[in-house]
Amino acid sequence: MASVLVASNRGPVSYTLGEDGSLDARRGGGGLVSGLSAVSSQDSLWVCAALGEGDREAVRRGVAEPGVRMLDIDPEVYADAYNGIANSVLWFLHHHLYDIPREPVFDAEFRRRWEAYRAYNRAFAEVLAAEADQDAAVLVQDYHLALVPGMLRDLRPDLRIGHFTHTPWASPAYLSMLPDDIAGELVWGMLGADELGFHTWEWASAFISGARRDDATGTAEGIWPSGDPWHGVEHVRYGIGKGRTRVRAYPLGVDAGELRALAYRPEVDERLARLREEVGEGRKTIVRVDRTELSKNILRGLLAYRELLTTRPEWRGRVVHLASAYPSRQDLESYRAYTESVARLAAEINAEFGTDDWQPVLVSVEDDFTRSLAAYRLADVALVNPVRDGMNLVAKEIPVVSESGCALVLSTGAGAHGELGEHALTVNPFDVSQTAEALHAALSMPDDERARRTERLAEAATALPPQRWFLTQLEALRELG
Ligand code: G6P
Repeated sequence: MASVLVASNRGPVSYTLGEDGSLDARRGGGGLVSGLSAVSSQDSLWVCAALGEGDREAVRRGVAEPGVRMLDIDPEVYADAYNGIANSVLWFLHHHLYDIPREPVFDAEFRRRWEAYRAYNRAFAEVLAAEADQDAAVLVQDYHLALVPGMLRDLRPDLRIGHFTHTPWASPAYLSMLPDDIAGELVWGMLGADELGFHTWEWASAFISGARRDDATGTAEGIWPSGDPWHGVEHVRYGIGKGRTRVRAYPLGVDAGELRALAYRPEVDERLARLREEVGEGRKTIVRVDRTELSKNILRGLLAYRELLTTRPEWRGRVVHLASAYPSRQDLESYRAYTESVARLAAEINAEFGTDDWQPVLVSVEDDFTRSLAAYRLADVALVNPVRDGMNLVAKEIPVVSESGCALVLSTGAGAHGELGEHALTVNPFDVSQTAEALHAALSMPDDERARRTERLAEAATALPPQRWFLTQLEALRELG
């Protein structure tokens, strides 16, 4: 039994199955891992899904890290819930990614997958209900598990339930594309929580506006925040459970000490030396690091770089665009096609402008954190231009790590824009010409101005580091009457 429980689709550890039958555990990083490390593993339990064959084998053999419980959900149910609903429907709604003339289509197949999404959420709710001490705090994560709070509230009314959304929240217009009963169920699931956390007030208020509509599960009402824009408190009234859900913004930041320690290890020094050679003496760098993810807007970023080289030929031979675009969610056709388009466009730019001793774009398609950290250190300009993004920690990490200070080109679509926009060069993510001009301004920025801005960016980026981000939410739950 545990007094603090975390639930997320992806857990803190994953296993790979070797050809000789051995299991190799790989531990992940991130905000939750460092947040939960503040709580003893005897009192805490992290419930997550077994994602691949290695994880499933670990469950079968009873191999587990202390304080971690992996759920071996039927692979077909899991695929329908994760790929079919979480990543193809909820992710697309929250990020406004649909190609509207064709999508979305909510038909019988969608309803079959929604059943799987329910079953997957129920599997989590049942384990949490069985493992939680009386009055325990349960922190449920993200859009994969939006129904868990409502289900868990029914099973265990005594629990203190929080839910944190790491993505944006769909605008009411997008939310209302869902069939009415499903939109109502989603809101009902979320409102089972005592507290709902979002990275920014923009996403929190989108939730409140969407929840305000009358639906099959009762009436929800939101009231606009007053006072401190980041930590304001909001209440939504609704017709089930305890009758009250608090909505708050907790903008996740970075831990400067931890990040710098990682970025200045000898293996990163070595990678940096190689990267400097690849870039070439005296050239400036524009750095971006993303999953090849539709919402990250990598293609328009490359188009802006191409426009920069066309309209500002003085940069030819004097700048290199270092792009880490590592494959993600490749089970989805639209992601595979996007990854190919990124590689194709980068190759086109290199063919159009490259010379014998200058390659304009260096793309890395591997999930290579060492290379990313080396690129962070080398960055003169950071390009973060998502169309819509819950927070975007890359925008916060690069200013903390860059050696010579970096100018940040940041789109208004990133949650991070709320805190960093003032010290960044702001762009509309769809405006390629504006982005090209912002890249030019960033590359031309005087050293003292760049240093000053970098300092402010790093200060804002580290305002709420992961441990504090997590513990503040935990405290808020524990203080509930
Ligand atoms: C986003 C989501 C996370 C998710 C991550 C990677 O940041 O908010 O919940 O884990 O993307 O996506 P994946 O599908 O690989 O877990």
